[in-house]
Amino acid sequence: MFRKRWLALPIFLVLTGCVRQSSLNPHGPAAREIGTLEWWILAVFCLVTVVMWILIALLVLSRRGSLEEHAPVDTGGGQKWIVVGGFAIPVLILAGVFMSGLDVLADFPMHDGAMLMPAQMRLVGHQWWWEIYYLEGPLQHHFITANEIHIPAGQPVDIDLASYDVIHSFWVPELHGKVDLVPGVRNRIRIEAEQPGTYRGQCAEYCGEEHARMILLVVAQMPENYQRWVTNQLQDAAVPANPQQAEGQQLFQTRACSLCHTIRGTLAQGRVGPDLTHLASRKKIAANLLDNDTANLSAWATHAQALKPGVLMPNLSEFDGEQLRALVAYLQNLR
Ligand code: CUA
Repeated sequence: MFRKRWLALPIFLVLTGCVRQSSLNPHGPAAREIGTLEWWILAVFCLVTVVMWILIALLVLSRRGSLEEHAPVDTGGGQKWIVVGGFAIPVLILAGVFMSGLDVLADFPMHDGAMLMPAQMRLVGHQWWWEIYYLEGPLQHHFITANEIHIPAGQPVDIDLASYDVIHSFWVPELHGKVDLVPGVRNRIRIEAEQPGTYRGQCAEYCGEEHARMILLVVAQMPENYQRWVTNQLQDAAVPANPQQAEGQQLFQTRACSLCHTIRGTLAQGRVGPDLTHLASRKKIAANLLDNDTANLSAWATHAQALKPGVLMPNLSEFDGEQLRALVAYLQNLR
């Protein structure tokens, strides 16, 4: 079906360069530096591969028609090939790659001791979601949200990285490389998005059953839009707009929900799961696994264990249909 096989490699490279969440498609200064290094390494490896193919082809052609089964071990120069081609050249190339890697790494200090300014936010890894503390300005301007980091485009943002349980790793390939979130250690990363946009990230350190579904979104906005977003996030949760939503709020506060989740301005003050004060303003739920819509909110409330087995969120089977609709209506009003 695919006749021109040689096209596979260039097509693969172009595609990986275009897709979202690819380090070959950088959108920030750090990612650009890493991306350049990556392309160079890729080019060198391709060159080595081509040279090897040529050598193998020459060897095959030179032996065509020969009755000799294989060459004797040492026919003057056989071992030299091994020393030069199998040892010296690989050592040189790998040393070059290693040194360039160190050189790029030196531009990205990742321990807070190396930074003079306090971080603008702190990202805390949980099994299996991300908690974000916004720490800019005086205390009354701080707030907590989850799974969706908003930043102003075109400005560097320093983020402290911490973990609540096991080792996680922050990785938004289009913006930067990976830095781990280690319990008891405070790492730091400086990200910058050159353009407004949504950049997908992923936990990059195996952290348990749902590691693959620990997804992160970085939303870069024009500075004025970002400020508007911050102003909204600082508000307490919206009050119910109708009796159905009021019933939903009542259910949220009096049933299991409030034991784990906070909705600021209400009696729900749980700290185990994500803060839901402005849940409806987020694009996705369940650590960006599912779209934030009526069907998914209902399914998540009642069947979280089927959608994401092992997650701390239990299946809440206590609601009847009407109660579930009220609960979801309430949550969808939390913009
Ligand atoms: Cu968190 Cu993998």
